[in-house]
Amino acid sequence: MITQKSWISLLLLSLVLLGVGACAATGSGGQSAAVPTPGEVSPSSSDSGEPGEPKTTLTLYKMWDAKWFNTFFGPLLSQFETETGVELELLRLGGSSEESLAELQRLLASHSGEVDIYSIDVVWPGILAEHALDLNGQVPASELEQYLPAILEEYTVDGKLVALPEFVDAGLLYYRADLLEKYDYEAPPTTWDELEEMAAAIQAGERAAGNDDFWGYVWQGANYEGLTCNALEWQVSYGGGHIIEPDGTITVNNPNTVAAFERAAGWVGTISPPEVTGYDETASHNQFWNGNAAFLREWPKFWDDDVHNNLVEGRYGIAVLPTNSGQHAATLGGWGYMVSKYTDQPELATQLVQRLTGPEASNLRAMDGDLVPAAALYQDPDVLAKRPYIVDLLPVVKSAVARPSTVTGEQYAEVSAAYHNHVHDILTGQVSAAEGVANLEAELVDITGFEAKMP
Ligand code: GLC
Repeated sequence: MITQKSWISLLLLSLVLLGVGACAATGSGGQSAAVPTPGEVSPSSSDSGEPGEPKTTLTLYKMWDAKWFNTFFGPLLSQFETETGVELELLRLGGSSEESLAELQRLLASHSGEVDIYSIDVVWPGILAEHALDLNGQVPASELEQYLPAILEEYTVDGKLVALPEFVDAGLLYYRADLLEKYDYEAPPTTWDELEEMAAAIQAGERAAGNDDFWGYVWQGANYEGLTCNALEWQVSYGGGHIIEPDGTITVNNPNTVAAFERAAGWVGTISPPEVTGYDETASHNQFWNGNAAFLREWPKFWDDDVHNNLVEGRYGIAVLPTNSGQHAATLGGWGYMVSKYTDQPELATQLVQRLTGPEASNLRAMDGDLVPAAALYQDPDVLAKRPYIVDLLPVVKSAVARPSTVTGEQYAEVSAAYHNHVHDILTGQVSAAEGVANLEAELVDITGFEAKMP
């Protein structure tokens, strides 16, 4: 039986492992996770065993939701339990990517084997590599061939395969095709000039028609990892480099990046709501899905049936994000599964990761419209019949721009925090773009010891 535990049990677990609490790690104090569709799963109060007994559970730590469980993985997990006799425990953590990383680092710092598998962001391998089992060698090379090589590369640190990818993200432009038509635009914008012009005209028209809450363009401007992803797209699309280049030079302080950030700051309160500097993925996509925005920058993974129907029936469209330099930029995102080096079940844990990222799981995701790490599925006739728009996304995935996580390794979290803090200061008008990138450059030199240069 699959046991579900919330972040509260995980917090208790961390406290126990750090020697702060005396209560049992699981069971006492653990809350069953509230799954919105009861009846699909039966939360259990079973423990992972008395101290000293061999462990019969595998614990998976992940930000998961009812859709993940019910649509994709509940049946796969149950099947795995039946086949192996292992009992699975799902720990759920909420919060942003950064909050989860902090929680997970606290847990791993104790070198505990209580959690066997961690779901990790594509930018974390350099930070977590020392705690990971090397999946090279555990997973046959023939099986690794099914994944897009560039995606596997992002999960590889100094030759160590830290995780296997579950799904891929890439920043996309969503647009209201019905409104483009209403305002006589034949195609979505390909440049930022066009986007601004269309967003302003549609916003003015919709407001004049009575929708006071309507805005032209929404995106993720809150001060967190999501802003790193958005801002990287702006600067790359301006030919402003990649913050820190793969050769370890800091290139962020350049006129193209300054121009890109000035432009984005100019959107706040004009074509984007003033609150956009507090928007995460949920806030921005709610604004769009509720009919109150013409354009949205977002990942692909929020597609539900409504969105899918709107895409297929032509009310919504997806396009690559605009550019100013000819280079369209989509930040590469996504999540994978890492097996803890401290697990006492390395083989079973690896098998579960293979199951969660393998062909069957990827196919379920692809049929649901998500981007997956397996290239073949973008040509699969069944997937194409159900999700015709997915075929256009493979080139976007293949050319997606990585954040500088490989070159900065374990310093990535600090580097990204410095980046989004300074960009946020620019967006909120606390400093000019030129001052902001100069401050950022100095801080990046301090953090990394790398040299600063023009791209
Ligand atoms: C998505 C992406 C992840 C990124 C995060 C930022 O979850 O998959 O890579 O770090 O958004 O909010």
